[in-house]
Amino acid sequence: MKHLLDSSELNFQQINELVEIAEDIIKKPEKYSSLCRGKILATLFYEASTRTRLSFESAMFSLGGSVIGFSTADSSSAVKGESIADTIRTVSEYADIAVIRHPKEGSALVASQYSKIPVINAGDGGHSHPTQTLTDILTIVSSKGKLENLTIGLCGDLMFGRTVHSLVKSLSSYPNNKFIFISPEELKIPSYLIDQYIKPNKIEYVQTTNLEESMPMLDILYMTRVQKERFFNEEDYVRLKDLYILDKNKLTNSKEDLVIMHPLPRVNEISKEVDADPRAKYFDQVRYGKFIRMALILKMLGVEINA
Ligand code: NCD
Repeated sequence: MKHLLDSSELNFQQINELVEIAEDIIKKPEKYSSLCRGKILATLFYEASTRTRLSFESAMFSLGGSVIGFSTADSSSAVKGESIADTIRTVSEYADIAVIRHPKEGSALVASQYSKIPVINAGDGGHSHPTQTLTDILTIVSSKGKLENLTIGLCGDLMFGRTVHSLVKSLSSYPNNKFIFISPEELKIPSYLIDQYIKPNKIEYVQTTNLEESMPMLDILYMTRVQKERFFNEEDYVRLKDLYILDKNKLTNSKEDLVIMHPLPRVNEISKEVDADPRAKYFDQVRYGKFIRMALILKMLGVEINA
């Protein structure tokens, strides 16, 4: 694994291996605490982040490594007009692995083409966010014990939500999954995902605007925020932002073992009253994000892990 730009680059075997390492890290953190001593992770964040950047940084520190980087574009030479290509060339001289988040689709790919060190895409515009998918997968394995035979509802901004795109790509390669895409007409899942990932894998799917009606069928409900920063005008955002709000009431006809997920940040999509429900797993996702990223850093740096 030279770079990680998209979730479709990860096969079953690699996903299983990362999940197994993450589970072992959770059980025996001390075994991993100095495996990255002397190694440096660079976090290049041109776009806002709380969980992704901090979990990567915490992951590297917990492996005994160090972290450098910037958390806003305006604290880097991007404000002076420097290109991603020149920035990553520079970072390649100072770090062993780089994590990049950028508002433009394809930016991580560009970085990888000029990089001497492995590049991890931590979100490129509305395109892809593969390490959130790994986080989501560890959460699903931990709560369901499997990644197949699941009915997965994805609700909210399916058009611009990059975490949705990456998760759909990965889960469509497991057998007998079914997707229920719940969104307003304007925020439907991009058709390339249906044509290139869902149909070729013969995955059953439904597109609907109705969350309530979908509830009883779901094993997993993946709520998402309407991606304000990707809209061309404020009016559309305001009109669409609060269409789906998951509250206690809507949970009454859902399965007992439903798993409620959200990549966070949440705005209004899930009422706070749902947080206390045992089916709410979005803060577990936050926790798993660190361990799966520890596993990923180890694999991408080629660090040997002794049994
Ligand atoms: C997501 C992102 O940045 O795409 N956040 C995250 O990394 N957990 C989701 C979002 O911003 O809505």
